[in-house]
Amino acid sequence: MNQYQKRITELREKLGDDLVIMGHHYQNDAVIRHVDLTGDSLELARKVTTIDAKHIVFCGVYFMGESAALLANEGQNVYLPEDDANCVMSQMAPYTLVDKVLTRIKESGRNIVPLTYVNSSVAVKAVCGKHGGSVCTSANAEKMVRWAMERGDSVLFLPDKNLARNTAKIIGIPEEKWHILNIKGNGTLIDMDAVSKSELIMWPGCCAIHARFNERQIEAARTKYPDVKIVIHPEAAPNVIDKADAAGSTSFIIKYVEAAPEGSNIAIGTELNLVERLADQYEGSKNIFPLLESTCSHMARVTEPKLLNLLEAIENGTAKPVTIPAGLVEDAKIALERMLIACA
Ligand code: 13P
Ligand code: SF4
Repeated sequence: MNQYQKRITELREKLGDDLVIMGHHYQNDAVIRHVDLTGDSLELARKVTTIDAKHIVFCGVYFMGESAALLANEGQNVYLPEDDANCVMSQMAPYTLVDKVLTRIKESGRNIVPLTYVNSSVAVKAVCGKHGGSVCTSANAEKMVRWAMERGDSVLFLPDKNLARNTAKIIGIPEEKWHILNIKGNGTLIDMDAVSKSELIMWPGCCAIHARFNERQIEAARTKYPDVKIVIHPEAAPNVIDKADAAGSTSFIIKYVEAAPEGSNIAIGTELNLVERLADQYEGSKNIFPLLESTCSHMARVTEPKLLNLLEAIENGTAKPVTIPAGLVEDAKIALERMLIACA
């Protein structure tokens, strides 16, 4: 046991039931070994509402901590070991621009419903809540796009154009009814004609980590292992997803690997920490390998020493919890709760 592990274990014992540590599957093993509850973003959001502990430590990126802080009960505090661990995709949709774009589309006469991927700031979630919209995760995007389509004549999906397109294909929205926004910095839409004809209007964001997967890697895996199964997270581009055997959220990928027969060769296209953990877990029974070694450098900012620093600070009363600006709480909470109710 290293010095950090030893001290974290002591502090956890001291804090007892007052502390719960949650962690996303993309966290590294040195952090995950201290986590009470692991999950993907939907599972973790759901679990927050069932926790009684006074201190919730969230090992993940900033938007995940914000969502947990929104859903936490009164008297509970949510803390992040590293405030600068920020999902790059979530930063591709600044809320002032989202608000401007949404207002312009509405002013053009469209009854548009905004739906934000959970990988977005609390301010964007609040904008969506305020305009009758909601939130989705990669595990429930199909259900939530249908939910939004029932409530208006069009949907604004943000920030991930890949998840949006992959979901549109599953639902069967024809390609001529999709449109990826082309936005000028001041929020002026330069393609109002296309906006007026589309059902699914997409924000032009994507995840750089999942955008690295390509068709050549799939071909190489199939050449090496002709019976290989390829499973990819839907943040990858649609042409890549088309060539895979399956695509789905983090929890889907874990279940896919679990259900595969002994002796399977499985290439996974998602964040490396999860792929390596699955490879270790099934060592000797299933051959699991990454389509490409792709790591999320922001998830990696959470480390065991930083977790220790945070627990020390919680213990001595100096830790700073995640706070949500009061003006955003109600609308952002409504947006998140609409998802939790629709997907209960
Ligand atoms: P999940 O919704 O599958 O947990 O994914 C979150 C994420 O950040 C994927 O890159
Ligand atoms: Fe964000 Fe991509 Fe990292 Fe997920 S893997 S947290 S979407 S940057």
